[in-house]
Amino acid sequence: MFSEFAGQEKVCQRLELMVEAARARGDVLDHILLSGPPGLGKTTLAHILAHAMGGAIKNTSGPTIEKAGDLAGLLTTLEKGDLLFIDEIHRLQPTIEEYLYPAMEDFKLDIIIDQGPNARSVRLNLPKFTLVGATTRSGMISAPLRSRFGMNCRLDYYTAEELQKILIRSAGLISVEMDAEGAWEMASRARGTPRVANNLLRWVRDFAQVRANNRVTREVADEALGMLDIDRDGFDEMDKRILEALIHRFDGGPVGLNSLAVAIGEDSGTIEDVNEPYLIMQGYLKRTPQGRVALAPAYRKLGVSEPKRSGELF
Ligand SMILES: Nc1ncnc2c1ncn2[C@@H]1O[C@H](COP(=O)(O)OP(=O)(O)OP(=O)(O)O)[C@@H](O)[C@H]1O
Ligand SMILES: [Mg+2]
Repeated sequence: MFSEFAGQEKVCQRLELMVEAARARGDVLDHILLSGPPGLGKTTLAHILAHAMGGAIKNTSGPTIEKAGDLAGLLTTLEKGDLLFIDEIHRLQPTIEEYLYPAMEDFKLDIIIDQGPNARSVRLNLPKFTLVGATTRSGMISAPLRSRFGMNCRLDYYTAEELQKILIRSAGLISVEMDAEGAWEMASRARGTPRVANNLLRWVRDFAQVRANNRVTREVADEALGMLDIDRDGFDEMDKRILEALIHRFDGGPVGLNSLAVAIGEDSGTIEDVNEPYLIMQGYLKRTPQGRVALAPAYRKLGVSEPKRSGELF
């Protein structure tokens, strides 16, 4: 239900309108691309869309479709109005993408059967379906694929108010007694991300069960999060290590992502997808063509003074 999905108002309004229009026409939804950092609700929205349209949803992901036959297998089991959800769609192989184009545009699939002199192409008619693609890297989606989505929705980080609402609802679902300030404490330290907020809630619930008579207040939440080394700004160990490496080992940058990743012993893709978007959004660092650069709040956070740079490069 859209009503159970807090925040992302503009996106929800657009999608609800599309659903209403398609349903009134007895038509299927146009293809939809959902992009944004991990844990903001892309998968959840895909399920809400399928539910709202009354169709079935088939889940798959870019890297698991290895051969054209895998795609054909999926597409040919769809029924009219079903929703095919491809997670991590930026990881589809280019050859698979090519097969997807006519399927998206004309609901046709050209497959090659047999090999050598007997090889021939067979055209299959597919039922009208809706492709919902999700990606954490919208920049990696090829232009031809992107242009075949009728609707492109970008999810943003949530405000603490929105996360507080989500937490209060989640607490109800797992029967945790929690006051509004307890929820606020978690909401303001959840990096704008519902998945993080819900994970914190489960930890705080355990903490409250063992140490605080099952009641989550501001103090209880604060103590529980302190035990996880999550600070006031919601930074975890990895965020702190990124800023420390950037400032102490690379003089605040610019430094290439790979060097930074090696310095802290983390996978560069994880840094780029998971930690960086939040640090950038909060103004701690920026990406430049020369590499990552620490900004003033990062120096303040680590309690070191910002070096004076002559002849500003950035
Ligand atoms: N707007 C929301 N309201 C309530 N709960 C939400 C909302 N958005 C996400 N959640 C919850 O947060 C969790 C993560 O959401 P989801 O799996 O949909 O994220 P995602 O964008 O698909 O992440 P990933 O990119 O990692 O696949 C889920 O448990 C979901 O229930
Ligand atoms: Mg997902």
